[in-house]
Amino acid sequence: MSLFAKAEAHANLALVKYWGKKDERLILPFNSSVSMTLKDLYTITSFRLLPGQRERKTFAIDGKPVSPKDSQRVFSYVDFLLDSFGHEGDGYEIDSHNSMPASVGLASSSSAFAALGGAVLEVVAPELDKRDISRFVRRGSGSATRSVYGGFVEWVRGDADSGSYALPIDETPSLDLEVAFLLLSETHKKVSSRVGMRLCKETSPLFKAWVTEANEDVPSMVAAIKGSDFTAIGKIAERNAIMMHETTQTADPPFTYLTTKTRVAIGLVEDLRKSGCECYWTLDAGPNPAILFQKRNSAKIERMVKSKFPNATFLSTTFGPGLGIIEER
Ligand code: PMV
Repeated sequence: MSLFAKAEAHANLALVKYWGKKDERLILPFNSSVSMTLKDLYTITSFRLLPGQRERKTFAIDGKPVSPKDSQRVFSYVDFLLDSFGHEGDGYEIDSHNSMPASVGLASSSSAFAALGGAVLEVVAPELDKRDISRFVRRGSGSATRSVYGGFVEWVRGDADSGSYALPIDETPSLDLEVAFLLLSETHKKVSSRVGMRLCKETSPLFKAWVTEANEDVPSMVAAIKGSDFTAIGKIAERNAIMMHETTQTADPPFTYLTTKTRVAIGLVEDLRKSGCECYWTLDAGPNPAILFQKRNSAKIERMVKSKFPNATFLSTTFGPGLGIIEER
């Protein structure tokens, strides 16, 4: 048995969002979701098992130790994985590296938990297939489930632990599709996705409608992907994001992830589209929108965005690969 593994996982952008858990412990979502895995946003994590040393647990980012308090979520997830595979008595060392500095606001839990889960499982359960890996990764962070595969991915919601996993739709798409994250320099008071989802589920009168619509968006999005229909992908993704964010604005108390700058950016995308430059936006649980477009429009979109937001970072990327093991000893 090897005691060390290093895994690489790429972040993903949800085109049909996961928003709401019907089981918080098992992380079972109300709706299925669809994402694209991203090339330039990734996490590389190494995991070393320390047999018989449960009291020894360390977590570092880029070699710098993370405080025990900030490591809590990582430790309880890794303990859950070890306990699931008969390693209750073992300790470990974890070191993680992100392609993007955390300060740019794109440190994604999807790549972080997929890389972490992937490295731990490679050591303690190397026999698992990708479907089962995605089930165990799901327990770290819902969105991470989809980072197990590259390209376009579906997370099948399922009604029980065994039925809630990722499926590849197209791991190596030939579709001309680029995504640019617009990192607006604003600091924003955060409502975590966990708290936000719970509030929307418990108080928004639109939540039921959201779940119905999102579940209907999944087959439409899969058909658009299979038909290489950029326009349909963009339209479904944008409308789906609008619906998700409506649940926050109708929660009690209402809240929003959109800042003034986010709204200006969305307006810019809509104006560009009206002028014939086809592009669409989507937004997760934060203020930084993502813009979907095709190569022929990339220069124009970058120019327009930079002239409106000279201080913002414009990070453009395309499809990336699924979870991979890059070293094992
Ligand atoms: O994986 P979490 O718990 O951080 O949830 C992410 C939820 C969204 O990013 C808003 C949507 C999604 O499907 O990724």
